[in-house]
Amino acid sequence: MIFLAIETSCDETSLALFDDRRIVFHSTYSQIKHHKIYKGVVPEIASRLHSEKISVLIKKAELNNIRNIDIVGFTRGPGLKGSLLVGKIAAMTIGEFFGAKVIGINHLEGHLLACDIVGDKIEDVLEFPLICLIVSGGHTELWYCSSYGKYKVIGKTRDDACGESFDKVARMLGFNYPGGPYIEKASLKVKKTDINFTVPDVVDSLDYSFSGIKTQVMYFLRNIKRIDNKLRNEVSFAFQKAVCESLVKKLDIAREKFNVKNIAICGGVSANNYLRNLIVNKFRDCKIFFPQLKYTSDNAAMIGVCIFRRFQKGVFKNSLEISDRLPIRNWV
Ligand code: KG4
Ligand code: ZN
Repeated sequence: MIFLAIETSCDETSLALFDDRRIVFHSTYSQIKHHKIYKGVVPEIASRLHSEKISVLIKKAELNNIRNIDIVGFTRGPGLKGSLLVGKIAAMTIGEFFGAKVIGINHLEGHLLACDIVGDKIEDVLEFPLICLIVSGGHTELWYCSSYGKYKVIGKTRDDACGESFDKVARMLGFNYPGGPYIEKASLKVKKTDINFTVPDVVDSLDYSFSGIKTQVMYFLRNIKRIDNKLRNEVSFAFQKAVCESLVKKLDIAREKFNVKNIAICGGVSANNYLRNLIVNKFRDCKIFFPQLKYTSDNAAMIGVCIFRRFQKGVFKNSLEISDRLPIRNWV
């Protein structure tokens, strides 16, 4: 079975071609350098670049030399509408050309199933039931997953996404966009600090809230005349520590509540080593699944795994409608 995956939900244009379980082509064009100067993603620039780069990737994949594609899958949400639309049009066009089935995939399911990519192959890595923590630039959600295609949202952020808070605090500190990796790097230079931030708890709930800590950092920095490197590093350290501890705290409550021994962490922020170590040390009696580092951020290979799982179960009933706020739904 040959299938093609397309990801264009935010600021990465990505294409992956699979021959059954094997990735035979995967290429991602990152738009970051175009958005950096604006310190965030500009939707109009993103969709224009997707339309330019998707055809470059299609050429690079040499689709014209391929005799058959059985399925074309694309990210139909959540994401930026204009960007999603480019992926959908590309998928419909290629699907029509090859007479392939076209299916729409939820981007967040892609982040979770990225854990199943080992080397350049899809393996049966994930074990169910599991609790999944998705931490990306646009989303922070906790899911209870009973199998592939059976997901229940049990917690989510009430305001900023976790990655978004990393990006906003990084910006206050004068770092580039996206800020998460800069904060992680700066934190490595610190062993201890007197600076202390807290993530306000959303009581009696598995929900998160990250806008409070962002405001704390803002007030803290407001009284400081010159932010030097030492302070930048210490603020990064204190912020990262507080945010990661809050992520782990709710994860722990969820794990206990649902009596689950499998945990998956995915999305852009799951690249953070401080978070990875905290989780590994805290949940020693659990199986923990992370995607390989190169599959933590947005990519088409993770969308390919979602296509493969649907193919395995023979489930193709699916809407092609794009939706910027697409909620996760069961598909089995
Ligand atoms: O999943 P992703 O690539 O895109 C979305 O779907 O949003 O996540 C991007 C987010 C950005 O906010 C970025 O700052 C954050 O992931 N990020 C990190 C790290 N690497 C990326 N945050 C903390 N530490 C990192 N090492
Ligand atoms: Zn993402």
